[in-house]
Amino acid sequence: MSEILRCEKIRKVFVVRDFLGVNRRNVVAVNNISIKIEEGTNTGIVGESGSGKTTFAKIMLLLIRPDEGSVYYREKEITRLSDNKLRSFRSKVRVIFQNPYKSLNPRATVGRTIREAMIQTDSRKQEIEEILMRVGIPKEYRTRYPHQLSGGERQRIAIARALAGFPECIVADEPTGNLDATTEIHILKLLEDLKRAFNLTYVFISHNLKLVSNICDNIAVMYKGNIVEEGSARSVSEHPLHPYTKALWNPETANVSEEKETKNYTGCAFANRCVFRRDICLQTEPEMVEIEKGHFVACFLYE
Ligand SMILES: Nc1ncnc2c1ncn2[C@@H]1O[C@H](COP(=O)(O)OP(=O)(O)O)[C@@H](O)[C@H]1O
Ligand SMILES: [Mg+2]
Repeated sequence: MSEILRCEKIRKVFVVRDFLGVNRRNVVAVNNISIKIEEGTNTGIVGESGSGKTTFAKIMLLLIRPDEGSVYYREKEITRLSDNKLRSFRSKVRVIFQNPYKSLNPRATVGRTIREAMIQTDSRKQEIEEILMRVGIPKEYRTRYPHQLSGGERQRIAIARALAGFPECIVADEPTGNLDATTEIHILKLLEDLKRAFNLTYVFISHNLKLVSNICDNIAVMYKGNIVEEGSARSVSEHPLHPYTKALWNPETANVSEEKETKNYTGCAFANRCVFRRDICLQTEPEMVEIEKGHFVACFLYE
């Protein structure tokens, strides 16, 4: 299998100012993440809100640049390439964001949104209508504006826009996060059909481990900017290893204590919520270790 995307040791820190702009605080959004995306696979990235998923997705797409680490597209490093040199990458690796209300230009018709995303800017009406048909939108919608569409229709237009450049890979950041359950099922079905029709590779980002495990081949679980567990969807569902992954599976009965006030400790990011915590967990950051073939976890319970 060939590799489409690879990220190595990605780190991103945001400097946040308080209300008056006096005090500054560093937020480590992505700490030290490596991941490899193979052609034809679906990779799920899961974690609760604030775990750094969107920041990491934007770095994979080079919409923001990492402070440290490297991004490779088809084994060529592209981390610091100029936007101009990234043009072909940007047509091949596309994004769908959670909120199509924000990501679609309210002043552009559906037709214009898709035309602008096409590589040939002189693309004809017929090609635009073909793409609309692919995502289950009637061609008459070409002249409509986003406010005239339902949430599900808007997300279909966002998908059409991603398809317009004939991509290899789509990074979908909580693509059904704003939709009701029925619309979610329809959108997931559409993404599955498009995968088959266009040989797409997906990176699927969600807070919902169950959903991701149903549609992905591989899963990476993120907690506070780190990947804490990684493996095949089957392995991570059948034998979850990290206490945090277990908690995501079973939020009601989870062995997770409420987060106590974070003291300055240098160890595992999850230690202050973990009921299995030992002294070492507060002192040292656990490294990823392979427990079964291809199934990794960063946790001292498994050392
Ligand atoms: N542009 C930004 N400026 C400052 N802090 C940010 C910015 N973007 C994200 N963060 C912070 O980084 C952390 C991770 O955010 P995000 O990547 O959006 O997580 P997720 O998508 O998993 O909810 C959060 O603490 C968030 O507040
Ligand atoms: Mg997010």
